[in-house]
Amino acid sequence: MRSPFVAGNWKMNTTATEAERLVLEMLDKLDKIEGVEKVLCPPFVSLVAVSMMLQGSSIKLGAQNMYFEAKGAYTGEISSLMLSELCEFVILGHSERRWYFGETDEIVNRKVKAALANKLKPILCVGERLEENEAGRTEEVVSRQLRGALDGIEPVRDLVIAYEPVWAIGTGKAASGKQAAATIQFIRAVVAKLWSKSMAQDLRILYGGSVTGANIAEFISYLEIDGALVGGASLKAEEFVSIVEKTAEIKGRKK
Ligand code: PGA
Repeated sequence: MRSPFVAGNWKMNTTATEAERLVLEMLDKLDKIEGVEKVLCPPFVSLVAVSMMLQGSSIKLGAQNMYFEAKGAYTGEISSLMLSELCEFVILGHSERRWYFGETDEIVNRKVKAALANKLKPILCVGERLEENEAGRTEEVVSRQLRGALDGIEPVRDLVIAYEPVWAIGTGKAASGKQAAATIQFIRAVVAKLWSKSMAQDLRILYGGSVTGANIAEFISYLEIDGALVGGASLKAEEFVSIVEKTAEIKGRKK
């Protein structure tokens, strides 16, 4: 079945020196945890250093963004071709990219295509804003984002989806496990319609938004929820290790 997955999204935090220190603090313990796919997503400038530190370990590397063109006159951008030498994953469509940097569903779609073309595995984020949630539009929004991002893309197992309600990100107000599981079930139904039932059953779908060592169990106790995309708590070595340990323990029990 689906193997559990936990990724740490460091966002725009850590200098290269701090990134190395953070990896050192968690490396040994994280490396030993079995039964969970573990991914660190540091800022671009630390990818090379962190990739060297992770060599020979069971921990994988991801980037937080990329541009959809492969190369050329796009000052300041980083392409999937460049990332493909360093990382296995790339976070795409994160709500901070959508709302602060104007990324549309169409841009996210071009990025997903470019990532897959260079054998990078997208961690595709979808999620509704507070007002959309309150207006009962969660399913409509998530469905539009998914259909937009996956438009014209052949069914592919090298994709992880993260359901991240915008109102839960960085706010300390996580969704409830029940709410998250219900939306994730809905996401699976959309993927089943777009692609197939078996693809929907095979794809990993994570929850993200104020996940901590204290609340991770609430999410991953649901069979629907395959793991977490962790922001703030992934910057604390002990806490991130504890999130991954709890995921391994709880998902291991359900086998
Ligand atoms: P958070 O961020 O855990 O700090 O809420 C999650 C994310 O944005 O991926």
